[in-house]
Amino acid sequence: MSYSISEEKIEEITGLTDIVDIIGEHLSLKKTGANYIALCPFHKEKTPSFSVSPDKQIYHCFGCGESGDAISFLMKYDNLDFLEAVEHLADRAGVLLDMSKEKVKPDNDFLKVNYKINREAAIFFHKNLMNSPNAIKYFENRGIQKKAQKYFGLGYIPNQWHDLLNHLKKLGFEEKEIEETGLAIKSENKGNYYDRFRNRIIFPIFDLKKRVIGFGGRVLDDTLPKYINSPDSIIFNKGRNLYNLNNARNYTDKGIILTEGYMDVIKLTINGYNNVVASLGTALTDNQVKLMKKYSREFYISYDSDNAGLKAAIKAVNVLKSHDLNSKVIIFPEKMDPDDFVTKYGGARFNDRLNKALEYFDYLDYYLNLTHDTRQDKGKLGYIKEINLYLQHVKNAVEKELYIEKISQKLGISKESILLEFKNNQRKAFNRTPDSIKKLDMAGQNASDYELDLIEILTNNHEMTKYIKNKYDTSVFYSTKNRSRFYAILNDLSKEHTDEQGTYKRMDLTQDELKKVVDDYIKKIKTDQLIKIKSEIKTKLLTEPENTQFKEQISEIDKEILRLRGHHNG
Ligand code: GTP
Ligand code: MN
Repeated sequence: MSYSISEEKIEEITGLTDIVDIIGEHLSLKKTGANYIALCPFHKEKTPSFSVSPDKQIYHCFGCGESGDAISFLMKYDNLDFLEAVEHLADRAGVLLDMSKEKVKPDNDFLKVNYKINREAAIFFHKNLMNSPNAIKYFENRGIQKKAQKYFGLGYIPNQWHDLLNHLKKLGFEEKEIEETGLAIKSENKGNYYDRFRNRIIFPIFDLKKRVIGFGGRVLDDTLPKYINSPDSIIFNKGRNLYNLNNARNYTDKGIILTEGYMDVIKLTINGYNNVVASLGTALTDNQVKLMKKYSREFYISYDSDNAGLKAAIKAVNVLKSHDLNSKVIIFPEKMDPDDFVTKYGGARFNDRLNKALEYFDYLDYYLNLTHDTRQDKGKLGYIKEINLYLQHVKNAVEKELYIEKISQKLGISKESILLEFKNNQRKAFNRTPDSIKKLDMAGQNASDYELDLIEILTNNHEMTKYIKNKYDTSVFYSTKNRSRFYAILNDLSKEHTDEQGTYKRMDLTQDELKKVVDDYIKKIKTDQLIKIKSEIKTKLLTEPENTQFKEQISEIDKEILRLRGHHNG
């Protein structure tokens, strides 16, 4: 069911939104007189003709004629529909949308075709399953009987190239439309269309409105790739959806259990847990957290207990923590995943594991003990350095203090020394940033794209890696993931092999030119981060309008951003 939002609500939300902040998070804005200008993101240009007016709260491009407000900017830039854009702004502004009270409004026609095709495909896959003894047997062998096959709308597609296509065409859909959903692929040389999913069992993925937005397909043996998923499309964004949240959200009184895979969700459900979701094979994202936190504030991470899963769990607890949400981590023996575990030991034993799940800090400690031997000095140092990265996601000062106390007891090092070491690491990262900003929580929630670009430049380029290490220290990366990537590159560096110059060799830049590029990237990363922090402070300012400290921080940040941009432009 879709809903609409009242005019008053939209006014309330836009009233709390500054278009300069919204656009500034995506484009590099430069102040000229009363307005800001930037390179237009909607057409190619070399000199900026995209103008943003803080007074009128609108944007306009004198080059291509695009114009609108914060909502239409997000719709166009982030490919959102109207309601999604409003929801996004409401979320930022801290305005609660009461969906049930809003009146119903029909979906837009173009999107409707996508949903229709997906629904027809899901029905087709499911009917196919019911007529395919081999696929039914596969499910049964894995303990998934008819009842669960129906509940999850599971399906099957035999080893043919055009089964689904022909079926959908018969129903009147065009090949182009089918390709749009990702169900069909257009062959590059022959130009004809064929089915993406062939000879696979199928898991349909639903959104919260119970629409089919995509599919996962698994082979019945151990051929690779084991799974293929629908590609992201106008209606399917993996980072913005969770498998089975449409069901799980009705059973969240005992929290939400987060898993990695379709099979984990299904097997836990069969064993009595209806509150299970999966993050569709990707690392947990901020948007997924935002979706879930409407339904629960208690989370269990139930990932595979292999190295990759344990690491992904670290990421997940920290993403949740940065939203001020608590989570516990369930650990299984022998690198099992939840499906393996309930298959071998049953639901009751799973409940024991769940009751023994590790709290946030205890999990960090558990994980760090796997790689740091804290009986030795080197291990202690490594432990402190790494846990500092994670604890940056803890916003509550008292909570943080309690953890530092625990570290102090464990390692036999004074709290003061630990704090000093934490601060040193932080200071190196913001060596030229004013004190009042340094005190702020710099835990990045979204890794900026610039960070990834920079990682790419550094990969295989030892010269540039050394340059960054010497000039900026390692903590230029705000995202923990990118930071560990950077550490991996640094490790590589110590292995002493020849410099391959990396991806950027092809661009024929001299080392000096490349250094300028790298400097530029670092400025952009810092600017990005400052803008994020500023918008967080602005949100706080809404509840404490008299807080002069916040106001001072904002003006410090503005100065710092201007300084960074000034350098960047000159
Ligand atoms: P089973 O092996 O059938 O038990 O599945 P699983 O859910 O345990 O799979 P696994 O833990 O290997 O992977 C977790 C999730 O990651 C899957 O449910 C998929 O969503 C995704 N995934 C796994 N393998 C692949 C792959 O080869 N390609 C893609 N695109 N996604 C995959
Ligand atoms: Mn599995």
